[in-house]
Amino acid sequence: MNFQFSLDSIFPEDLMIIGRDLTPKVVDGSLNSSTPSEYYYKHFCRLDPSSKMALGEVLDRMGAASARAQGLSQVITTMEKLRTSENHIVYIITRKHPDRSVDGADICVGFLKVGRKRLFILDSSGGQNEVMPVSVLDFYVHESLQRHGYGRQLFDAMLQTERVEPVHLAIDRPSDKLTSFLAKHCGLRQPCPQTNNFVVYPGFFSDREEDELFYPNKRRSPMKNGYEVTSMVGINGSPSFSRHSHGSSASPCRPASREVRNLHDHHQLW
Ligand code: ACO
Repeated sequence: MNFQFSLDSIFPEDLMIIGRDLTPKVVDGSLNSSTPSEYYYKHFCRLDPSSKMALGEVLDRMGAASARAQGLSQVITTMEKLRTSENHIVYIITRKHPDRSVDGADICVGFLKVGRKRLFILDSSGGQNEVMPVSVLDFYVHESLQRHGYGRQLFDAMLQTERVEPVHLAIDRPSDKLTSFLAKHCGLRQPCPQTNNFVVYPGFFSDREEDELFYPNKRRSPMKNGYEVTSMVGINGSPSFSRHSHGSSASPCRPASREVRNLHDHHQLW
């Protein structure tokens, strides 16, 4: 997608990340910082007001194109939504014209938006798990550049930066193209749709640190008088979980719709 202005001053690197502070930052796996957030905040370039407006145009137009490509009536990604969402991050790829003085010749190739979402996900024993996994929220590569490996580049950068395995992601209403992408590049098959339009894959609950997945700011305490007690921890406290298990009498991975029931009938989940 072309713009009337040069993208170089907003996106000095071809692959960058932007969070709610609207400050593009470098994605560089070699930095090897101790935490993703430390790494994220160390490397950035502040934008002047006109560059920030230009950034808004890039995000808004790319978000609108993504919604059109997915046949959505509502746009999921805009600058305003990014600014007001607590933990959403956009990974974005641009390509600059070799002659940096030519306005309108740079292109924005695509973007991937992820964030932690509070979700209820069923496990194989029918337990409702209140979780907050890294979630794929919006993903778009311009039509003229699809199937050239740009989606993979965005996705790999996200996995590395967020330090997450593909199988541990939740995906918001995956399109057929994304379903095919996940099968091809990540070996993810037999999606398990949830009642909230999100999809997870077998293995979602496996091989995790207990604290890694679940709802941040709540820490599970021992059962007290038969009730689970949760308490708040600091905003940067390690995530923990709040699991509402139905116990052994619950039906396996309780289906919420015919489609889900069929899936559950045919596949061993998780
Ligand atoms: N039809 C079927 N599968 C496709 C298509 C297509 N037109 N385009 C890409 N794929 C899948 C295939 O598995 C393909 O492998 P193949 O060519 O061997 O069949 C693989 O993706 C190619 O990988 P990349 O080149 O790395 O992916 P790409 O750059 O095309 O990006 C993306 C993938 C983002 C899904 C892109 O196709 C796109 O923007 N599609 C339209 C918007 C969309 O559907 N976004 C996902 C919405 S759901 C969500 O965001 C949570």
